[in-house]
Amino acid sequence: MGALASPRVLVAAELRDLLPPDPLPGYEVCWIAAEEPTPQGDFVGFVTLLRRKIGEAELDGLPELKVLAQCAVGYDNLDIGAAIRRGVVVTHTPGVLTEATADLTWALILAVARRLKEGQEMIASGRWTAWAPTQLLGMELQGATLGIVGAGRIGQAVGRRGVAFGMRLLYADPEAKGEFENRTGAVRKDLDELLAESDVVTLHVPSLPGTQGLLDAARLERMKPGALLINTARGDVVDEKALIAALQEGRLGGVGLDVYRDEPQVPPELVAHPRAVCLPHIGSATHATRRRMAELALANARAVLEGRAPPTPVEGTWPPRLRPGALPGGGGGEKGRARGDEDR
Ligand code: GLV
Repeated sequence: MGALASPRVLVAAELRDLLPPDPLPGYEVCWIAAEEPTPQGDFVGFVTLLRRKIGEAELDGLPELKVLAQCAVGYDNLDIGAAIRRGVVVTHTPGVLTEATADLTWALILAVARRLKEGQEMIASGRWTAWAPTQLLGMELQGATLGIVGAGRIGQAVGRRGVAFGMRLLYADPEAKGEFENRTGAVRKDLDELLAESDVVTLHVPSLPGTQGLLDAARLERMKPGALLINTARGDVVDEKALIAALQEGRLGGVGLDVYRDEPQVPPELVAHPRAVCLPHIGSATHATRRRMAELALANARAVLEGRAPPTPVEGTWPPRLRPGALPGGGGGEKGRARGDEDR
């Protein structure tokens, strides 16, 4: 009689350098590169990245799957409803990337407020000839108002840094955040008021049906003339065409973007615009954070495969719904809210 084969787990190949050589002892790890299509088969777990879309069709090809362990806080690439219906637990990596993403948000705020792209270009093109009193004047942050749209973990971490820059804080969030208010003096506003009063608006909401297109043309119109818009959350939260128009017409003073609607496509109007600083979705890209994300994704996968509660499940997916034909004793996981979580 041959030895029983180890259960197979798919793991995104791009995580290899962040993980130990045998990241899931007892399982056969099958590394899968982002450009490879999602395979079909008896895989019991899948450690995924944002680039891979998994919906009904992909899940139908993975009938033994117990866990989709996303290595990111956002999971808009995964069909949460389809996973719940099949009793597949979905996990993600909130918490470990908060500070790195807040830092990157501030890198963008500072770059846009102080016109770093234009300054660098001035030197690179040889157009800088002398110090001049009115050269590249930017926005003074001390005393200016920072509007935080979505005060989850990352939004709050951005706000805490804002206090150190002497900014007045506003936030818009479905829930009041008492501790955040006490700690920073932040004031809760409805979104339209926040947009009308803020000098810098920074977005920290997940991509959900209710937030997609949240900053549409009408809302962009409500922003103060010359205000700055920063987005390190998800590209589809903003109407990109309306954003380009607002920038080109000079209604916005500048934009700092780390995310786009059709990544990795970045509209050429944004790339070319002197007041648009565009980064390639690197909010959480520090050595320490990316390692922690990979480790947490693996810990989540392992926990589910061993029948334990994963450290960071997506709300509503744990405990899993019983699969047809499975023995009773499992959990309900009835109707996950597919909420983007607190963390964007
Ligand atoms: C990155 O965008 C993430 O969701 O972790």
